[in-house]
Amino acid sequence: MSADAGPTYDVVVLGGGSGGYACALRAAELGLTVALVEKGKLGGTCLHQGCIPTKALLHAAEVADSAREGSRFGVKTTFESVDMSGVNSYKDGVVARLYTGLQGLVSARSIDYVEGSGRVVSVGAENQVVDVGGRRLTGRHLVLATGSVARTLPGLEISGRVMTSEQALSLDHVPARVIVLGGGVIGVEFASVFRSFGSEVTVVEALPRLVASEDEAVSKQLERAFRKRGITLRTGARFESAEQVGDVVAVTIEGGARLEADLLLVAVGRGPVTEGLGYEQAGVVVERGFVPTDERLRTNLPGVYAVGDIVPGLQLAHRGFAQGIFVAEDIAGLSPAPVDEGGIPRVTYCDPEIASVGLTEAQARERFGDVEVVEYNLGGNGKSQILQTQGFVKLVREKDGPVVGVHMIGARMGEQAGEAQLIVGWDAFPADVAGLVHAHPTQNEALGEAHLALAGKPLHAHG
Ligand code: NAI
Repeated sequence: MSADAGPTYDVVVLGGGSGGYACALRAAELGLTVALVEKGKLGGTCLHQGCIPTKALLHAAEVADSAREGSRFGVKTTFESVDMSGVNSYKDGVVARLYTGLQGLVSARSIDYVEGSGRVVSVGAENQVVDVGGRRLTGRHLVLATGSVARTLPGLEISGRVMTSEQALSLDHVPARVIVLGGGVIGVEFASVFRSFGSEVTVVEALPRLVASEDEAVSKQLERAFRKRGITLRTGARFESAEQVGDVVAVTIEGGARLEADLLLVAVGRGPVTEGLGYEQAGVVVERGFVPTDERLRTNLPGVYAVGDIVPGLQLAHRGFAQGIFVAEDIAGLSPAPVDEGGIPRVTYCDPEIASVGLTEAQARERFGDVEVVEYNLGGNGKSQILQTQGFVKLVREKDGPVVGVHMIGARMGEQAGEAQLIVGWDAFPADVAGLVHAHPTQNEALGEAHLALAGKPLHAHG
C-alpha cells in the first residue's frame, strides 16, 4: 500500500442511484465500511430524472383531467390551463424533499459519500481500486451501479425540439403538438401526460402494439383507452428520419408518411452506462454494454458485483433496490436468497394504469402448454364504477396449477401490484386467494373476484 493510500473500505459502490445507494445503506446498516461514489446527484435517475418527477407530472395530469371532467360526477368545474411553472415547482418540491431525506440517510449511516466521476483502476483479490478525480478509493468489494441513459436512434440527434424524457421533464410550456417515438413504458406515460395537459399527441411505435412486453389483452385495452382520449396511434410504424425546420419538427415513418409537431419525444429505450469507466480494462466482462452477472449478481471477477440497469433484465428502480440490498447482505455473509427476477412487479403509470406480475398468457402457454385464463371486467367492480374507469384483471394459471401471471389495467390499478406479487411470488392457487376476504368496495376486490372466477365460483362476473 502506498503512503498516501486511504483506508480500505469493505465496499466501494460506484453510482448513487437506486441500486447503488440501497447497497450502501444496507451495507452500512450491517456494520460494513462503505464509500459511495456519485458524479451527479445522490438518488440518480429515479429521483431526479425518472420515476419521481414523472409520476408528479402524471399526478398533475390527473388533476387537470379531474378539473375537465367534473360534470361527469355532477360537479361544476372548468379547466382553464396548465401553468408549467406551477407544475414544475410542485414536481421539483417533491424531488427536493426526497433528496434532502436521502442525503440525511446517507450521512446518518456514516457512509463516505464521494462526489465525482469514478473510474475503475484495478481489480484484485480484496483490493479493488477506484479513482475519483485523483483520489484513490480501495475496497475489498466493488459494486458497479452506474445505471442507464436514454437511447436514441442512428442519425437522430437530441437537440432543440427533439428530446428525451430528461429534457421533457422540465418544459416551460405545454407544446401544442407532440410526437412520441416509442410506445413502451416512457412513451405511453408521457403521451398520457401531454394529452391531459392539452397537447395533440401521436405515438409512433415500430411493433404492432403499445407496451409490447405486457400481455396482449392489456395492450389492446390501452390502445382503446388512448384512442378514446384522442391520442393518435401509429403502431407497426418504424421511424425513418426527423428534421427540424423553423418551429416544426417533421418525422418521416417507413412507407413515407410525414408527421409534424412542435416536439418529438424520443423514448426508444435506455442503454447501460458502462463505457469509459475502466470496466473492461480492469477485466470485467461487458456484453453489448451490459455487465452480465450470475444470480448472486457476481461479475466474472471475484469481489466485483453489478446491480441495477447495467445488469441485463428489467430496468426498474425497485429491482435496483432489491439487488443493492441483496449484494450488501451477501458481502456481509448473510447468504440471502437471490432476487426472484420473475416475481418483480411492473407498473406503468399512464391513464389507465397498468400493473402486472409474472408471465403473460403467451409466455405461460410457451412454458406450460396448457394454461387457464380468466379476465375479470372492472365493469363488475363497484369502486371502479365509482371512479368511472374501465379495464380488467386477467389471471393466468398453469392448468390445475398455481397462478403464474396477473395483468391489470384501469385507473389506480398500480396500487394492486402488491397483492398480485404475493400471489405469484408464493405460487398461490386460485382457491387460496378465493378464500381470502377482500374489502368492499375497493378495486382490490376485483383481484379477489378474478380468483373466485378462476376457482370456479364467480360472484359479480357476467358470462
Ligand atoms: P421500452 O423498451 O419500454 O420501449 C421502447 C419502444 O420504442 C419499444 O416499444 C420499441 O419497439 C420502440 N422503438 C424502438 N425503435 C423504434 C423505431 N425505430 N421506430 C419506432 N419505434 C421504435 O423503453 P422506454 O419506454 O424508453 O423505457 C426505458 C426503460 O425505462 C424501460 O426498461 C422501462 O421499463 C423503464 N421505465 C419504467 C417505468 C415504470 O416502471 N413505470 C417508467 C419509465 C421507464
